[in-house]
Amino acid sequence: MKLWEGRFHKALDPKTNDFNSSIAFDNRMYPEDIEGSIAHATMLGACGIIDQQEAEKICEGLRQIRADLDSGALLIDPNAEDIHTFVEGELTARLGDAGKRLHTARSRNDQVALDLRLNLRKTCGELTALLRQLVGVLADKAEKTADMIMPGYTHLQRAQPITFGHHLLAYAEMFLRDIGRMQDALSRMNECPLGSGALAGTTYPIDRFMTAKLLGFDAPCANSLDGVADRDFCVEIAAAVSLCMVHLSRFSEEIILWCSWEYRFVHLDDAYSTGSSIMPQKKNPDVAELVRGKSGRVFGDLMGLLSMMKGLPMAYDKDLQEDKEAIFDACDTLRLCLTTFIPMVETMEPLPQNMRAAAAGGFINATDVADYLVSAKGLPFRDAYRITGDLVAVCIEKGLTLETLPLSEYQAVCPAFDDGVYEAISLERCVNGRTSYGGPAPENVRAQAKRVQEKIQQL
Ligand code: ARG
Repeated sequence: MKLWEGRFHKALDPKTNDFNSSIAFDNRMYPEDIEGSIAHATMLGACGIIDQQEAEKICEGLRQIRADLDSGALLIDPNAEDIHTFVEGELTARLGDAGKRLHTARSRNDQVALDLRLNLRKTCGELTALLRQLVGVLADKAEKTADMIMPGYTHLQRAQPITFGHHLLAYAEMFLRDIGRMQDALSRMNECPLGSGALAGTTYPIDRFMTAKLLGFDAPCANSLDGVADRDFCVEIAAAVSLCMVHLSRFSEEIILWCSWEYRFVHLDDAYSTGSSIMPQKKNPDVAELVRGKSGRVFGDLMGLLSMMKGLPMAYDKDLQEDKEAIFDACDTLRLCLTTFIPMVETMEPLPQNMRAAAAGGFINATDVADYLVSAKGLPFRDAYRITGDLVAVCIEKGLTLETLPLSEYQAVCPAFDDGVYEAISLERCVNGRTSYGGPAPENVRAQAKRVQEKIQQL
């Protein structure tokens, strides 16, 4: 039986019924639907729109339904049109007339807008907690690996020496921004659409400030059309989730490189790696690859939401029903990724000797040779840069590195060199000297790791 069948002469075609129904994906919002209805009924009673005792009966009935759904004593009817219809129908079946009064001064349009906001508010809280955990793991690991020298890259070419801790803290910064974006989206969406009605408010003397307060919102939405038609919050959250997936995907890409035989910078715990059905030697970084792969579907969710919204006239249109699968999928995917990614990173073991060997091999201290000529010998940087370029060419020709090139070769290119150059370009010196704020010197990394730990305590 349909809520709206009075106006119709025929039952809905069964395939159309399935097509129209959202119960398969909005059933997860039953706690929020019930919470919203309890606030609405409480307000109706307090404002004298329905009898106070009846309001209490409704609230009690709703609490019972919630308990029965939680315990599994009551199952959601998969043929119901949506979760709103199901809860109201169940309430009416249990209470009769009192149940039928719940929908006074309300529409499913403001109801679904409310349920989704409540649901996403909770989800964003969970995602933020997971991100905070990830940042904590990174800061902790960064502190422990603040001295571990590794090559820093640009263009995936060895560039300048950094430390593993420094590299990890770069990701901590990205995830901290993700938390900020999530909180920002949350603060903007914390307005209550309930009382917008179908689109044009209501003639009943409702108190929208009361329901907003009961449900923990900052205020009611200021315009009833916008209240039911707005899904900006879905787009904002999907965008925040997408960017977070970009960060996870970049990190995954690096982890995949790092555990290849070509790099061998890290070792993944067996619990977070998989083998091959045919090649017995294989140990594959499937978790990181899946995270990288899943980022695409989340971007798809964001694109779907934007495209769904762009042509909709005010106010509610059924297209908006498409919001839920997209935003739920985006959030579920991020949650799923983080749940496995965090322990994988936590148990990932860095291999310092290999990192150091890679850092020692690629003229990574060439900038430091130039800096030596500037600081110790007073040359202009551009001249020092040119001389060092010539020296690198000599090294490549002779199969040597800047550390092993004899002083005579240095002096042949520039007589200003003395054997102080070897000390100036030792990897430790190169890294320890990079103490500029935000740089990779171990003392910086340790201080920054501490600041990050303090920051997440305050979030
Ligand atoms: N299932 C609908 C949705 O998800 C609820 C709102 C239905 N409103 C309507 N007028 N058909 O958007």
